[in-house]
Amino acid sequence: MGKILITGGTGFIGSHACIAFINAGYQVVLMDNLSNSKVEAAARIEMITGKHVRFYRTDMRDVEGMRQIFLNNKIDAVIHFAGLKAVGESVEKPLEYYENNIGGTIKLLEVMAEFQCNTMVLSSSATVYGCDNPVPYLEDMPISATNPYGYTKVMIEQILRDVCTANSSFRAVVLRYFNPIGAHESGLIGENPKGIPNNLVPYVAQVAVGKLKQLSVFGNDYDTPDGTGVRDYIHVMDLANGHVAALDYAMQHTGFEPINLGTGKGSSVLEVVHAYEKACRKQIPLQIVERRAGDIATSYADPTKAKELLGWEAVSNLEEMCADSWRFTLQNPNGI
Ligand code: WQD
Repeated sequence: MGKILITGGTGFIGSHACIAFINAGYQVVLMDNLSNSKVEAAARIEMITGKHVRFYRTDMRDVEGMRQIFLNNKIDAVIHFAGLKAVGESVEKPLEYYENNIGGTIKLLEVMAEFQCNTMVLSSSATVYGCDNPVPYLEDMPISATNPYGYTKVMIEQILRDVCTANSSFRAVVLRYFNPIGAHESGLIGENPKGIPNNLVPYVAQVAVGKLKQLSVFGNDYDTPDGTGVRDYIHVMDLANGHVAALDYAMQHTGFEPINLGTGKGSSVLEVVHAYEKACRKQIPLQIVERRAGDIATSYADPTKAKELLGWEAVSNLEEMCADSWRFTLQNPNGI
């Protein structure tokens, strides 16, 4: 197996993907600027896999730093997670998001071109489906965005489409994640956001462990079975394994290929809370508040293409995702 570079490799999804790639026999090199993760994650990955991982504290805007990585490692493919991803923050700091996510990706692609590395698996997001497409989302639907973070994903996907048009040897599999939650079964790595979590499950986890008082449910007047928002929650290890399947596919097929990574099943906020209560055996105090600006009622995937093209499907259910999240939170109440 070749050597792959994982950008954002100490982050929530990147660290779990690293384990999946090592388990699949790949040699991995991690690159992260540690702006939203800890180098301790690399040590945890070594504890879990028993394998050494080479880590570079490098920012994707640092061309010379990335050149050193490629000079010192024969990189066959890049799994590209690195990027800022907080929707609300992107509205306040659009230039930082465009400069980091898009500018950094362009520099990464330029270094890849210099070293004849023509394979990328890109971390994209269901957020590109915007708010006008009907569910379940299909890969050939029109994409758009409602915030700068979402626009960085839309634009980076377009950049990869154009690179594949210009270079017939290039292959880009673009993975559109739905809502990744949970943690590796060891409880050694998991979702570890800085500050107050924006997302539902890490927030619920901190209520469960006593770090936050109660959950605010952002609206219960949506057109959904119980009025609360419905999303397609997918276990982060299922998502990680989807990246291994995507790279296997990319190694054999040139061109641009967008693929949903979701379960195809929607769960409401209240269903998630109940599943988490079952996992932690505690009641999660909550209050219903106003809707959060920009939220849509329902989002879930049509996962057919991943099954047909990659031979991959998610296998974990909501209870298992919450149980794995809770184990990590209980073992790491203050994160890693
Ligand atoms: C899920 C549901 C909320 C928090 C976001 C980004 C998306 C992607 C995944 C990067 C919604 C409700 C949440 C809370 C709540 N990130 N909620 N109280 O909004 O589907 O997607 O994360 O790619 O780009 O937009 O995930 O976890 O924030 O919200 O009621 O404290 O939980 O209204 O219905 P979302 P989320």
